[in-house]
Amino acid sequence: MNIIDIIEKKKVGGELTAEQIKFFVDGFTDGTIPDYQMSALLMAILLNGMTDEETFAMTDAMLHSGEVVDMSALGGIVVDKHSTGGIGDSTTLALAPILACCGVYVAKMSGRGLGFTGGTIDKLESIPGFDTALSEEEFFEVVKRVGCAVIGQTANLAPADKKIYALRDVTGTVNSIPLICASIMSKKLASGSDTILLDVKYGSGAFMPDPESALELAKKMVAIGTIAGKRIGALITDMQQPLSDHVGNSLEIIGIVDVLKGKKNRLYREIREVALRLLALTGKYTLQSAEEAFDSAIDSGRALAKFAEMVRAQHGDENYILHPERFEIGTRDVVVSPCDGYVTSMVAADIGRAVTRLGGGRMTKSDEIDFSVGVIMHVAIGSKVRRGDVLCEVFHRDGKGLDEAKTLISDAIVIGSEQPAEHKIAYAYVGKDGVEMY
Ligand code: URA
Repeated sequence: MNIIDIIEKKKVGGELTAEQIKFFVDGFTDGTIPDYQMSALLMAILLNGMTDEETFAMTDAMLHSGEVVDMSALGGIVVDKHSTGGIGDSTTLALAPILACCGVYVAKMSGRGLGFTGGTIDKLESIPGFDTALSEEEFFEVVKRVGCAVIGQTANLAPADKKIYALRDVTGTVNSIPLICASIMSKKLASGSDTILLDVKYGSGAFMPDPESALELAKKMVAIGTIAGKRIGALITDMQQPLSDHVGNSLEIIGIVDVLKGKKNRLYREIREVALRLLALTGKYTLQSAEEAFDSAIDSGRALAKFAEMVRAQHGDENYILHPERFEIGTRDVVVSPCDGYVTSMVAADIGRAVTRLGGGRMTKSDEIDFSVGVIMHVAIGSKVRRGDVLCEVFHRDGKGLDEAKTLISDAIVIGSEQPAEHKIAYAYVGKDGVEMY
């Protein structure tokens, strides 16, 4: 077998065999296939696509490029959720303790932020002492004792994806449905949970520009997870504006504490929808009994206490959860509305970019993050505003990136004269038996 024949075949739209796919995934991972040949192949895949069989074979080859975690020793239902990423998406931070209160295990491996998207691991590290690099043994011990734990992805989980993703990032080959599907599903299937809810986002702050392409991606991922024997479903959700009104690392922890105390904002509504679908997928709950379990976890204060317990178990200072005013937050400035009208749309990615400019995100993997900076949105799509109203608070350190961030934000919030239609949290749910529209 040789790589040039494989590139030539995909260049003219041919279908690769599972052996050919395994050959190039293994060869690129072990360094025998160089970047330039892999780049050519990735571009041919992006342009000509892959069949479901090819996508499954690619997922399988990437999944087996490293360790496949076995969670069976936990002796219970182990759930996972995966978001395709966005701005102010801190759902994992609330879902882990809420789901643990509902009697299922959450053993979550999450990522760091890069570019305009934030990362769960960075947000957790804004809590003094919090350890996101527990040993495998301690990770399992915390999950067993507390019910949930969140750590960074171990180096040996789908290493093929790490190498391929890094190459896609610099060769314009990220936005290919089969490649995204294989990338996400190889990690999900390697991380050992039996029930998985995918949160596939669309809009100006997401990889997928519109709900239709998000639906296409979701269907493929659900099909692959089902073939692999998982209980799996996908929600298609809106990322046309930041999900949380708090965007930034410490600020998002503060926003999550508000949700765990029962503040019923957009973030809360999305967290509830994801949790209900995930609990129903386990077979332990119906959608109705899941509602009762979710509401009771929040209303009783157990979910907030569980979050503090998880933070303590991972060596963090739980007082920051119980008294979030302890977080050091940057100096306050504001962006105001230039006119009367309605917020008609937002370029969500630019709000993420503004936080990165302030120092709250990374442009390269080695950048240090300033946890104290970020924004608090005062408006959402549909809000009525008057000239001079505060659209958003901006928290900065010594003016770093402030002017650029304020310009990005004021250009990102579009104000017009017509009130737009209400934006739903979710567009559709994809289960193994089909699609349910919202
Ligand atoms: N998230 C991933 O993990 N991989 C992709 O390719 C895109 C989003």
